Amino acid sequence: DKYLWFKGIPLPAVDFIPELLREEWENFVFKDEDVLIVAFPKSGTNWLIEILCLIRSKGDPKWIQSVPIWERSPWVEAEYGYNILKDKEGPRLITTHLPIQLIPKSLFSSKTKLIYLIRNPRDILVSGYFFWSISKFVKKPESMEEYFEWFIQGNVPYGSWFDHIHGWMSMKGKENFLILSYEELKRDTRSTVEKICQFLGKKLEPEELNSLLKNSSFQVMKENKMSNYSLPHGQYLDEKNGSFMRKGISGDWKNHFTAAQAEAFDKIFQEKMADVPRELFPWE
Ligand code: A3P
Repeated sequence: DKYLWFKGIPLPAVDFIPELLREEWENFVFKDEDVLIVAFPKSGTNWLIEILCLIRSKGDPKWIQSVPIWERSPWVEAEYGYNILKDKEGPRLITTHLPIQLIPKSLFSSKTKLIYLIRNPRDILVSGYFFWSISKFVKKPESMEEYFEWFIQGNVPYGSWFDHIHGWMSMKGKENFLILSYEELKRDTRSTVEKICQFLGKKLEPEELNSLLKNSSFQVMKENKMSNYSLPHGQYLDEKNGSFMRKGISGDWKNHFTAAQAEAFDKIFQEKMADVPRELFPWE
């Protein structure tokens, strides 16, 4: 089914470190000065990467216009990403979709700053349905109904969203752990970016912040070939039928769920997330 099952979690084989490297990879060393972006796929991971890159470059778009996004903040679980990261000197931007139990253990003894990005799982589900339908590297769903079931069962890339949240929320309250939501980023990008800057101990001048906001906007990212996943052309995405930069809004699930699906999802959400504080879910 094009998945590589790793400790019970289905991962897109193309994303994941091969068997040969596994032991070395498990000893990957996170450094205190690193910043790690953690998100379940389709939560807005790449948007947050773009913002962090622009914080680093003080709003200057040169970097985001000249280097592909997956090289600027590589996925530690991907072979190409790991290979870039392992030899890189100085502070690194690192991305991961992994559930907490699979991340290399050195993370927990480092002061690496972590940003966990949450999004309404209904929107993640819809975004994932369209994205995996055009991707050439995972099992394609036949219909929204089918994908809905897969998502609930955790039979989608990186497993169960519900488990992903539960796992990473064990870090909540730690000084080096910031939780953000796609919804707050969308609603008030400026103050959310200021919150990120504060967490990272960075300060942007007003014109630098303005440039950041412009260059990380949906429209500009959609046009930036270093960020819109049009580069590995035809290899990973079937772009005749959609694009990575799809809609970029909150609440699109309302256009795709049936009333019965909405009701069923509410019920499952209440059951599975009863123990997680409501304040983490600004859409509920
Ligand atoms: P949609 O499919 O709902 O449009 P990820 O990076 O984790 O794969 O998440 C992809 C989702 O983030 C997609 O959602 C994509 O459109 C959205 N996204 C990417 N860049 C964005 C931006 N600058 N502003 C808002 N949404 C963005």
